[in-house]
Amino acid sequence: MSTKVKKIGVLTSGGDAPGMNAAIRAVVRTCAFHNIECAGIYRGYQGMIEGDFKEMGARSVNNIINKGGTILKSARSMEFMTPEGRKKAHENLVKNGIDGLVVIGGNGSFSGALLFNQEFNFPVIGIPGTIDNDIYGTSHTLGYDTALNTVVEVIDKIRDTASSHNRLFFIEVMGRDAGHIALNAGIGAGAEEILIPEEDMGLDRLLDSLRKSKASGKSSSIVVIAEGDKIGKNAFELKDYVEENMPEYDVRVSILGHMQRGGSPSCFDRVLASRLGVKAVESLLDGKSNYMAGLLKDEIVLTPLEQAVKGKSQVDKELIRVSDIVSI
Ligand code: F6P
Repeated sequence: MSTKVKKIGVLTSGGDAPGMNAAIRAVVRTCAFHNIECAGIYRGYQGMIEGDFKEMGARSVNNIINKGGTILKSARSMEFMTPEGRKKAHENLVKNGIDGLVVIGGNGSFSGALLFNQEFNFPVIGIPGTIDNDIYGTSHTLGYDTALNTVVEVIDKIRDTASSHNRLFFIEVMGRDAGHIALNAGIGAGAEEILIPEEDMGLDRLLDSLRKSKASGKSSSIVVIAEGDKIGKNAFELKDYVEENMPEYDVRVSILGHMQRGGSPSCFDRVLASRLGVKAVESLLDGKSNYMAGLLKDEIVLTPLEQAVKGKSQVDKELIRVSDIVSI
């Protein structure tokens, strides 16, 4: 293993996700294991611009594997979108002897990393961290599995009220551009219908499906809606629409919101974070740059960062069919 890189900076950027701390821990400890230095960069790219760095050793990441959020804090930096901002950030890295970067974040964070690499030829490896699971080159992003379990647990509770009062619930889950959470948590929680950004099921089909549910003897129903669904109506507008057309239904809306991003990471996310953190540091030590470490067919593999940014993560269409079958 070549040791060209002597000091690695690690940052978290964009929306926080459970498992980010476990990834930070893995990055810091892999550096310690290979006897190279590591610096935590606070508040993502904004902290890089402001020189908000802290030296980190194996003991600085004690007792964080089980914690949600990110001890390094996160931010969406507008200044990093400017050439001046990126120049300042580069100067700070050089001043602090940092010669390799691990970026834990989502698509926007990787676009920034790519630009930074192109401008300064700075070695960078990405770790996918977002609950939305919308990144090409990995079957799972950090936080996704935890978020799914959180959503299913909450829908199970809502189901108690739905069935006790014979109600129809519209439950909005996160996923501005992606239906992974809605589709998988919807199946896991036994939803009657699932609305996602990737497919326009149409209002008529929704009404038709609800009518069929009623006719088949269901007294309550759960509809899961991704926040970016294609029907183009938010959960409250859908409630009004359904109540107008099916006055027999007593409809309620629950927006799950940011509770989906918090909480202790699942074992799956902790193990994934640990594997990705080790891979990211060892890739930099091997002289690799401009890749994202991801999970494909249970192996940790590298995908060129540009592909990860430009590629589209697809929902599994077979899941839509499965949902249609098991929800009759
Ligand atoms: O982390 C991704 C995401 O959860 C999206 O699904 C959601 O639209 C967005 O974050 C909201 O994030 P924020 O409130 O931090 O802007």
